[in-house]
Amino acid sequence: MQLLHTAAELRAALAGQSKTAFVPTMGNLHAGHVSLVELAKQHGQPVVASIFVNPLQFGAGEDFERYPRTLEADCGKLEAAGCDLVFAPDVAEMYPVPQSFSVQPCRSLTGELDGAFRPGHFNGVATVVLKLFNLVQPRVAVFGKKDYQQLLVIRELVRQFNLPIEIVAGDTLRDPDGLAMSSRNAYLDASERMQATRLQQELAGIRAAVQSGERDFAGVSAAACRHLKMAGWRVDYVELRDAGTLQLPTPASTHLVVLGAAWLGQTRLIDNLDFGLPGRVEV
Ligand code: PAF
Repeated sequence: MQLLHTAAELRAALAGQSKTAFVPTMGNLHAGHVSLVELAKQHGQPVVASIFVNPLQFGAGEDFERYPRTLEADCGKLEAAGCDLVFAPDVAEMYPVPQSFSVQPCRSLTGELDGAFRPGHFNGVATVVLKLFNLVQPRVAVFGKKDYQQLLVIRELVRQFNLPIEIVAGDTLRDPDGLAMSSRNAYLDASERMQATRLQQELAGIRAAVQSGERDFAGVSAAACRHLKMAGWRVDYVELRDAGTLQLPTPASTHLVVLGAAWLGQTRLIDNLDFGLPGRVEV
């Protein structure tokens, strides 16, 4: 496995490749990332992963400084997973001049949910992903469903800028107790870790209720928020949405997603579950 740090080295190493499969990451890798690399291997070759903690997507007061940088351990995991090339630039390599051009994703996808609570976040994500796509020029790129809103933003980026890249979605991997794997789980202390499954349980409760016929979407979401608050969480949102548009479900919606973001102490956790409605065709 090659480890490269500059755009020039990356371009030279990938010259002539037309079937590259790409997994962009911010490092501090866990089994969820490894599963994305394994998925990438089914879709193209060589498999390239990037490791870059992108300052553009962190807001003031967020965890950019303390985000764990674990390059050596990450490379071990990527090599074991069969990754061919790791691109790990530093900030000066990715942003040699202040980034004054940026991608402004459409408000319909980013005006709510995480976009509302993290202003500028998806602008930073879309900008760095477009830069990485231009550098790697993959045929396929793999993104986790764990960041569901991000996945839809990237799909729309590719569609609206006519990028010849297929976006493949990887399922969320969970610990045995149901907690979605996330680099930020490392911030939880022992007591918070025990409580952390509660968010997923509330989302699963909403999914079960809707699959059993409940149609008061706002009511079940509000109840989940109340339960989390009573258990000591600070809730950003719990929302049921159409899984294809992230707009409120309509009678025509056949594929829904329930999304939540909430704070346990100093740690913000996000999770989601997408599901088809019984008796309808899942899209
Ligand atoms: O999901 C992530 O790790 C990041 O948002 C990404 C896609 C690598 C862009 O920095």
